[in-house]
Amino acid sequence: MRGKTAPHHRIPNWPKVVMDPSCILAVRVAHRRAGCWSDKMALGTVRFLRWSMDFVTGYRPTSGTLSKNHIMTEEKWITRFIFLESVAGVPGMVAGMLRHLKSIRKMRRDHGWIETLLEEAYNERMHLLTFLKLAEPGLLMRFMVLGAQCVFFSGFSLAYLVSPQICHRFVGYLEEEAVITYSKAIADIENGFLPRWTHLKAPDMAVKYWQMPEGHRNMHSLLLYVRADEAKHRDVNHTLGNLDQNKDPNPFSAKFRVQVQNALPSPGATLQSRSNA
Ligand SMILES: [Fe+2]
Ligand SMILES: [Fe+2]
Repeated sequence: MRGKTAPHHRIPNWPKVVMDPSCILAVRVAHRRAGCWSDKMALGTVRFLRWSMDFVTGYRPTSGTLSKNHIMTEEKWITRFIFLESVAGVPGMVAGMLRHLKSIRKMRRDHGWIETLLEEAYNERMHLLTFLKLAEPGLLMRFMVLGAQCVFFSGFSLAYLVSPQICHRFVGYLEEEAVITYSKAIADIENGFLPRWTHLKAPDMAVKYWQMPEGHRNMHSLLLYVRADEAKHRDVNHTLGNLDQNKDPNPFSAKFRVQVQNALPSPGATLQSRSNA
């Protein structure tokens, strides 16, 4: 990595809720059925984006049985993670920013949504920063990230102004794909296709951020933690997509967290402990 790294022993402003290793193991791929036309539109857009990205990058999952060109090596996985996480950090920030501006403009409360959305963006940026400890992106990659950010930031901002509900559904489906992607990478490690990651230690900042316990500080565990975060984003955004965007309070805010914690089906979906804003 270039430059000096900042010490990571300070307590982050958004500390992670500590996840038990047995919980992160229990995260599963899940799909919310697209019922109405707007759900189908959101799902169709995600499927199209995924197909385009896979086509352009020559990505094929389950490496072991494929020809040499399509084998997902450690480098290919990390490149994919870095690109995807650079995109994943956008929606929460855009949604949080637009709701913040709306709250100011309309001079009314936000009912606790902004903080969850900004925390999601922060969490995605932590994913990116963690993976950057394992690779140094080249010029082409940086150019791709810049291009993707320009297009996605503008497109998502416009879409969120038109229909925040569809946008949360879209992010929910995007996060379903993220859970699938990380599950495949985890399976690749378990099946011995990524030998250099078998005993690789997770970067220090990851150990501190997720408070990874002794004995669960390798690459395999790291991907389990990241996947659990994606499962949480999936459940949070699908839930927000079900709500009245103007009137409903955010059920993931501190005020409602106990009730929601009991009701959530996904073991990886933990809730933040910050107060309602
Ligand atoms: Fe992520
Ligand atoms: Fe995510």
